[in-house]
Amino acid sequence: MMLLGTQNINSRNHLEIGGCDVADLAAEFGTPLYVMDEKAIRDKCRAYKQAFAREYGDVDIAYASKAFILTAMCALVDQEGFWLDVASAGELYTAKRADFSMGKVIFHGNNKSADELEMAVEYGVKYVVVDSFVELELLSSIAEDAGKTQGIMLRCNPGVDPHTHRLISTGQEDSKFGFNIRNGLAMTAVRQAVAAKGISLEGLHCHVGSQLFDITPFTEAAPVMANFIRQVGDETRVEIEVLDMGGGLGVRYLEEHNPPSVAEFAKIVSESVITAVAAAGIAKPRLILEPGRSIVGEAGTTLYSVGPIKEVHIAEDPGVRTYLSVDGGLSDNPRPALYDAVYSAILANKAGNEPTKAYTVSGRHCETDMLIPRVLLPEAKTGDLLAVQTTGAYNHAMASNYNRFTRPPVVFVMDGKAELVARRETLEDLVKCDVVPERLVKDSPKV
Ligand SMILES: Cc1ncc(COP(=O)(O)O)c(C=O)c1O
Repeated sequence: MMLLGTQNINSRNHLEIGGCDVADLAAEFGTPLYVMDEKAIRDKCRAYKQAFAREYGDVDIAYASKAFILTAMCALVDQEGFWLDVASAGELYTAKRADFSMGKVIFHGNNKSADELEMAVEYGVKYVVVDSFVELELLSSIAEDAGKTQGIMLRCNPGVDPHTHRLISTGQEDSKFGFNIRNGLAMTAVRQAVAAKGISLEGLHCHVGSQLFDITPFTEAAPVMANFIRQVGDETRVEIEVLDMGGGLGVRYLEEHNPPSVAEFAKIVSESVITAVAAAGIAKPRLILEPGRSIVGEAGTTLYSVGPIKEVHIAEDPGVRTYLSVDGGLSDNPRPALYDAVYSAILANKAGNEPTKAYTVSGRHCETDMLIPRVLLPEAKTGDLLAVQTTGAYNHAMASNYNRFTRPPVVFVMDGKAELVARRETLEDLVKCDVVPERLVKDSPKV
């Protein structure tokens, strides 16, 4: 069995996270419930800071908030001395609500709206990562009109294959993101940025992909970026001071997964950049990293109550499958449907029992929403508690109200204490944006 972070099996044979018995958490907060292991998150933040400080020196680590964002999460990473990567007005607004220092915020997106750019300039974010020529012009006029100079990075496409799922691959040449270095578009963007009013080109950015177990794409991207920094210096006399290498480190979803540790990742990325800048003959830039999944992924566990358990008997193949239905599914975790994502689970109220039976864990949406196609568990009964592991990243953040399900609450657990950081949505929340035209109001005389 795989136990992550502070997960443990206690004397009641129950799964415990952050010193909290998950059966008690389910009784107090209901299910489904997202449980975030605060110590595990803080440990990851510290591992990143220490490893990169040791291996590289001048580094800022920005948490990629798209992985999991709540006001409390912004406050937590702020306490850990992190920067923040946001990619929408909503993420930026959440950061503002957390009173996150805007001088440590990086604003991303391949199609930011004028409203979002105005908001970023007004808030005074440190860098807008410009992703298109349209955005370059728009941002320049917005900042100029506001009488400000907005710091920018240019998102570059290094033309590197990240060897991960196609939907989370971004660094290859055929991508909607960034300016292609090889075909010269990135250099054109640099020239336009240097000539534009209201903006100041300070850095270059690339992000090759997500859930990477193989760090080779970083070692391939580093020389491309370093050579481009030199080319920019040679052709425009602008010295690029900041290099942002994005996020991407993978996490453990299954026991057999073996992603590189943060220390290994920091060593290889740092060495690649140091070697590449030396070879390119340029000054060592300040480095920025933007990890998301590897900060929160393994720290999250989703608790579900087990509902009906059905043996499927097909005449030709009896007992072919046992469906174990849980009280959530596609709406709280769309990743299996999106990416064929894989997960491990623990029968949390019988955590130490021998896993003897294969189950198919399905959700309760109006389609075949399978959370886990096959997992070995102890003999399960309706009313048991199922803990699906490694659900901290891109789960709550990607949750929806499909079938008008209310989104589950989130608790932070640490040192035996559980604190609500997002309450469960109510039925009233679900209808609060609905508008009924007068002619559709029941018994309206106008019909
Ligand atoms: C620009 C950028 N930075 C950082 C990240 C975070 O990646 P990860 O969660 O894999 O660390 C992403 C994820 O898509 C991204 O697009």
